[in-house]
Amino acid sequence: MKKAYKNAKTIAITCLQLGDSGKGKIVDLFSDWADVIVRGTGGANAGHSVYLNGKPFIFHLIPSGILHDSAGKVNIIGGGVAIDPKLLCEELDLLTEQGQPFDNLILALNAKLTLPTHVVRDRVGEGSAGLSKIGTTGRGIGPTYGDHVIRIGLTLNDLLNTDILAQKVRANVTYSARILKSYDPVAVKDVLHQEHLGRGIFWHPIRIFDVDAIVQKYLQYGTILSPMIDDADAFVQRIVGKENVLLEGAQGSLLDIDRGTYPYVTSSNCTVDGLAKGAGLHRGHVDMSLGIFKGFYMTRVGEGPFPTEFGGEISAEHCRMAREADEEDQCAYLTVNDPEEFDRGVAIRMCGQEYGATTGRARRTGRLDLPLLRYALRWGSSDVVLTKLDVLDKCETIEICTHYIYQGSAYRLGHLTINNGDPLFEAIPSAEVLQHCQPVYETFTGWQCPIRHITSFVDLPVALKKILDFLVLKTGINPRILSVGPEASETIHCS
Ligand code: IMP
Ligand code: MG
Repeated sequence: MKKAYKNAKTIAITCLQLGDSGKGKIVDLFSDWADVIVRGTGGANAGHSVYLNGKPFIFHLIPSGILHDSAGKVNIIGGGVAIDPKLLCEELDLLTEQGQPFDNLILALNAKLTLPTHVVRDRVGEGSAGLSKIGTTGRGIGPTYGDHVIRIGLTLNDLLNTDILAQKVRANVTYSARILKSYDPVAVKDVLHQEHLGRGIFWHPIRIFDVDAIVQKYLQYGTILSPMIDDADAFVQRIVGKENVLLEGAQGSLLDIDRGTYPYVTSSNCTVDGLAKGAGLHRGHVDMSLGIFKGFYMTRVGEGPFPTEFGGEISAEHCRMAREADEEDQCAYLTVNDPEEFDRGVAIRMCGQEYGATTGRARRTGRLDLPLLRYALRWGSSDVVLTKLDVLDKCETIEICTHYIYQGSAYRLGHLTINNGDPLFEAIPSAEVLQHCQPVYETFTGWQCPIRHITSFVDLPVALKKILDFLVLKTGINPRILSVGPEASETIHCS
């Protein structure tokens, strides 16, 4: 571990973009240093690959630090996380099958409990939302957090108390059924017959949900999970400042429910503040916050404005349906230097393996957007990690968006009015503004050589360092780590 982190006892890792910036690898690097690894936000909408016996498995809920369980490290799923017990039990089964212990895993008793009602409401709602759909992962995230906020949610601890569980499930089902009555009953029934929802075991032909079936199933989950459910907040508060604590973020700052590009966001707080809170701490406990973003490009999954998208609306439309296998078959001939920007975007997606770990969806690709980065930096710190730099190794040129020109009708923003033709250097995160922002690019010459083998900053190509200097100058970032390949060894520590 480098000098810069030596004095830190609590380090938080969050993404400054829209998720999928390669947090997993950086969390892995810090897992060696950490005694305790805590996830504080999101739920099974997140996805990271964990290698067990040399084989990759996608995990959604369990922190990647679980591989260090046998070394006595404690992994925690914090109170800010939405837990779908079905998926969690499946992940635990997989660990058992692969001989990977999880003796030190703690599940926060106040974590939010995802019910079948949440998954159904998410999927049916999205299925009928037409143009206003968000493009969610279908994991029930919005309804789980939504019910928490309107005070009809459940927590993991409710799994331990049979009568309370039954009573709360009944109340939630009553509320959920009332909402679902306004949707097409065939669509509701179809969703309830999906594999994730037990192929109809929770379906009731009149009341929509079978309360007893849900309670029975959830009590079974409770039996499996009960040895792990505990007061994680108290545990973390006891050891903070004494042991090395790593806070593992999920999603990205621009997807944060309060700070992100609302309404095209997830339903938890993905910034450092939210992460600390969801882990049972507060922001003041975080000694070092590292913000991650992809080196010189970015991606977005699902709907929402994306000013720098390669190929704009054509790409957004394409990515609604495209899957990795289709592109491997049909687009293998495209290169990152194609004259058509849409084609360049596809090629970068293939190079960077930009396909959703949770949904398999093709991620929309775009140029690095400094107005959005400047905005995200307001909620983080200037200490940053740039990842996936090797993805652009073959690019002859690299465009970076320095600012936008607003091209819409006059927009009142508090005391300000944004007029057609105005330049914007920091993004205004509302979708109504972002969709009318025309990016202005500065074009750089690419380095056009492999960089994965490079281990020291001085050996990086001059062309790459020039772009980095430009970013430092234009945004005030302080690059700490550069990731030049997926392996742990393919990492450069800057200072
Ligand atoms: P939800 O979190 O499933 O409700 O989805 C809301 C929005 O956040 C959608 O646009 C998703 O694609 C996006 N989203 C949720 N989780 C992730 C993630 O881990 N990476 C990238 N995008 C995500
Ligand atoms: Mg991900």
